Amino acid sequence: GTVVALVPAAGRGVRLGETTPKAFVPVGGSAMVRLAVEGLIASGAVDRIIVMVPAEFVESAVALLPPSDSVHVVVGGAERIDSVRAGIAAAPEAAYFLVHDAARALTPPGLIARVAAELRAGHLAVVPALPVADTIKTVDAAGAVTGTPDRAQLRAIQTPQGFAAELLRAAYLSEGVQATDDAGLVELLGTQVHTIQGDPLAFKITTPLDLLLAHAVLDGADF
Ligand code: CTP
Ligand code: MG
Repeated sequence: GTVVALVPAAGRGVRLGETTPKAFVPVGGSAMVRLAVEGLIASGAVDRIIVMVPAEFVESAVALLPPSDSVHVVVGGAERIDSVRAGIAAAPEAAYFLVHDAARALTPPGLIARVAAELRAGHLAVVPALPVADTIKTVDAAGAVTGTPDRAQLRAIQTPQGFAAELLRAAYLSEGVQATDDAGLVELLGTQVHTIQGDPLAFKITTPLDLLLAHAVLDGADF
């Protein structure tokens, strides 16, 4: 079955605070979106890659991505969910989807390959997960603590998130649904989502501190 990677890269990067949209911010000389696409190619697990970018960045994306018949650029949407929906529409041939944030630019190719392998092994939905270091609390609108979920049962979820294509298409059929990740939409359908061990290097570059960390990693920092 054909594995299609969808790369949401159409965000503005408000929290990073650069003038360029985040996916086009360089890390160690390459735009984040290029690093993310190179990682997908290096995994050897992906047949085609569709990158969703802001409308006015289509040309620059085509220019900076690795030249390949299997890498395509399409226009994303106002919210991440809209960008993923645009990617799904551009890949009617997909048997499996890997949805992978451009902002997780340093994701090891081996993690990508493991997600794809779990799909081929028969899991319908697969996400990388890591234990959380902080205690997580719920709070109300006034900031008062309303609860402390047992940390041992919590996981931080990364990308790539892998799905049987028909399942992801079904999850995105319903308009007006809300979730902070793609697996969240699949969960709403009642389908079980399988976790595998994530990787610290698949962290999402969100803030200036994250960008500093990414530069340090690429400079070969020992940690
Ligand atoms: N994304 C997208 N389309 C959007 C919003 C986000 O394709 N309308 C992508 C981003 O480019 C990023 C990924 O989804 O690769 C994860 O989103 P996030 O880290 O939140 O990036 P931004 O939305 O760009 O950042 P911010 O929320 O700080 O503005
Ligand atoms: Mg965002």
